[in-house]
Amino acid sequence: MKAACPPEEIQRIAALCTTRWHRNYTQIKLRTDPVYAAALREVGGTVLPVLDVGCGIGLLALYLRGAGYSAPVTGFDYDSKKITAARLMAERSGFDGLSYAAGDARREMPEFSGHVVILDILQFFTEAEQDALLVLAAARVAPGGKLIIRSGLREATWRHRVTVFGDWLAKVTLWMKAGPVCYPTRDQFERVLGQNGLQVRLEPMWGGTPFNNYLIVAERQA
Ligand SMILES: C[S@@+](CC[C@H](N)C(=O)[O-])C[C@H]1O[C@@H](n2cnc3c(N)ncnc32)[C@H](O)[C@@H]1O
Repeated sequence: MKAACPPEEIQRIAALCTTRWHRNYTQIKLRTDPVYAAALREVGGTVLPVLDVGCGIGLLALYLRGAGYSAPVTGFDYDSKKITAARLMAERSGFDGLSYAAGDARREMPEFSGHVVILDILQFFTEAEQDALLVLAAARVAPGGKLIIRSGLREATWRHRVTVFGDWLAKVTLWMKAGPVCYPTRDQFERVLGQNGLQVRLEPMWGGTPFNNYLIVAERQA
């Protein structure tokens, strides 16, 4: 397995997109956003399946496959148009073991055991919904598995204010169905995930962006 998805594979993944907007977005996202290589680093070396909650058009699954991660990957998102696009891209890719389901993570989550990934969706939930989602996700982390989250944290910093602005921009431009509701805190992750048997670590994941993003990795001992 590779340390990152090679540029030529990213090019091939982008070419699978159903619209020019998705193609450009995919190129930029997979080339510049450090979270995909970070998720690969966390799951690499294991053979556990991956559940990607809030998968969008399924970029993480394609990235993992492009880098050689061969365990099953399931994507879950409440935007049925994105799920349709993700399914089409997966079919065109020729990769095996990619599946997608539409549903609202505030109400349900597929039965699953393995690694769970949640990238950039917690801000759409209330604090109580975030806690409930973290509990559901933690219950799906297998022994030796990880819950891998990227989220902005609620902090009194300029980065936090820029993050809120960026999320509203995504809503206004209709890229996201909803605007941000609440940003979680470091204490919240440590408390909720710790109470559910996971060991939690957080690291900044700013990349070259002005956003207040963190990678939160919560691991269940094998
Ligand atoms: C910022 S996008 C991130 C997409 C993807 N994780 C990625 O990294 O490319 C947030 C995604 O979360 C999805 N989402 C938001 N609220 C959701 C919910 N309640 N249930 C399921 N998906 C949700 C949106 O439809 C969107 O695709």
